[in-house]
Amino acid sequence: MSKQMSHLDNIPSTPGKFKMEKSPFVHNRLRWHSSLAKLAFWSFIFLGLILIFFFRSPSSNSLPQDPSRRSLRTYNWGGPAWEKRVRSSARARSRNGISVLVTGAAGFVGTHVSAALKRRGDGVLGLDNFNDYYDPSLKRARQALLERSGVFIVEGDINDSALLKKLFEVVAFSHVMHLAAQAGVRYAMENPSSYVHSNIAGLVSLLEVCKSANPQPAIVWASSSSVYGLNTKVPFSEKDRTDQPASLYAATKKAGEEIAHTYNHIYGLSLTGLRFFTVYGPWGRPDMAYFFFTRDILKGKSIPIFEAANHGTVARDFTYIDDIVKVCLAALDTAEKSTGSGGKKKGPAQLRVYNLGNTSPVPVSDLVSILERLLKVNAKMEIMKLPRNGDVQFTHANISLARRELGYKPSTDLQTGLKKFVRWYLSYYSGVEKAAS
Ligand SMILES: NC(=O)c1ccc[n+]([C@@H]2O[C@H](COP(=O)([O-])OP(=O)(O)OC[C@H]3O[C@@H](n4cnc5c(N)ncnc54)[C@H](O)[C@@H]3O)[C@@H](O)[C@H]2O)c1
Repeated sequence: MSKQMSHLDNIPSTPGKFKMEKSPFVHNRLRWHSSLAKLAFWSFIFLGLILIFFFRSPSSNSLPQDPSRRSLRTYNWGGPAWEKRVRSSARARSRNGISVLVTGAAGFVGTHVSAALKRRGDGVLGLDNFNDYYDPSLKRARQALLERSGVFIVEGDINDSALLKKLFEVVAFSHVMHLAAQAGVRYAMENPSSYVHSNIAGLVSLLEVCKSANPQPAIVWASSSSVYGLNTKVPFSEKDRTDQPASLYAATKKAGEEIAHTYNHIYGLSLTGLRFFTVYGPWGRPDMAYFFFTRDILKGKSIPIFEAANHGTVARDFTYIDDIVKVCLAALDTAEKSTGSGGKKKGPAQLRVYNLGNTSPVPVSDLVSILERLLKVNAKMEIMKLPRNGDVQFTHANISLARRELGYKPSTDLQTGLKKFVRWYLSYYSGVEKAAS
């Protein structure tokens, strides 16, 4: 039997190549070839198995559709030097200072809020996954800016519970300013799962760790005016219905509010939701109209001006970043302590939600005229129908609650705010161009 087998083994699989002549040298060479072939075969199988394992693992599976998950694989944290940096960044310098974990710290609002907290002597630790929803080099430049003022941004994802737990082990944060999210409405056509990943799963992961922390932090987090969806009653008030979302982004923000309320109710977490309305300013977001209009006007490219049905004007309640930063700090300062501890509720906890707009919606055509004046270039405009993929016709905030309870008084008009934005834009991008040449 074994003889038969060895005979069969010697028959080559490719007909016509079999040589009858068998000198010892040829015989050895054949054996050597066959063991080489076996080695190659098994290496091939082994490599194949590794590849199958790699492609079937959940994080790499979702890689092409969900760039934000990439950071789950690549971050690097831990070790005594890292813990020392975390501790030092989160340590308050002023006597009554608070210690805040700012998620989304390399983002537009996160950078400004982190810098302002640090300036007044609070301890701040940033967390961001630096995803490439928009140019990550802008996030890196914001990181460098914060680094100079003593704020360390940990590179990681809010879905990484082990990392979050570690951060709470190292620092007893009194507050969390939660700004990490998948923003923008149109990106949902391309990458819907990124909204679920950051705005729902990420929020739950963060709240889970916060509810088990001892002491539990108070949480202030960014919701959005988009929860008002297709409402036509204006101005929007916190009591208005929020059950007609016009985008996946809005739906996940709305779900986020429900989730936050649940954690408040079950675990005694103190939660304050801030509904932002089109925040703009220096270091802003390249996916927002005021930003890419500036870029395209300077390049001589035409910009899309959306028009609602019956030539209806599209308008936004533009809010300047400095006004938002002030009220974010006021929300942190007025947040009551969470009442639970170690995952158990001990009594009712504070639950708030505020509109943070500017109370004066501006038609997008006015935005363009201001930019034309500031840039000294005439815009080429292309009038288009408002697409049915998430944008609403207008946003308009009633801010009396925030005015009363947080002392919110937005004081920057669009002309003044855009002047500051344009000054920043020109200086930032002339620096980027110089560095590239
Ligand atoms: N800017 C506005 O006009 C506006 C309006 C309404 C609501 N908001 C909300 O305010 C918050 C801040 O917005 P922004 O304009 O600064 O946006 P941004 O995109 O500039 O900042 C968000 C940051 O979060 C990070 N991030 C995203 N998912 C993450 C994850 N899973 N783990 C870790 N980091 C993650 C991103 O890398 C980014 O740096 C968001 O919740 C946004 O939805 C903003």
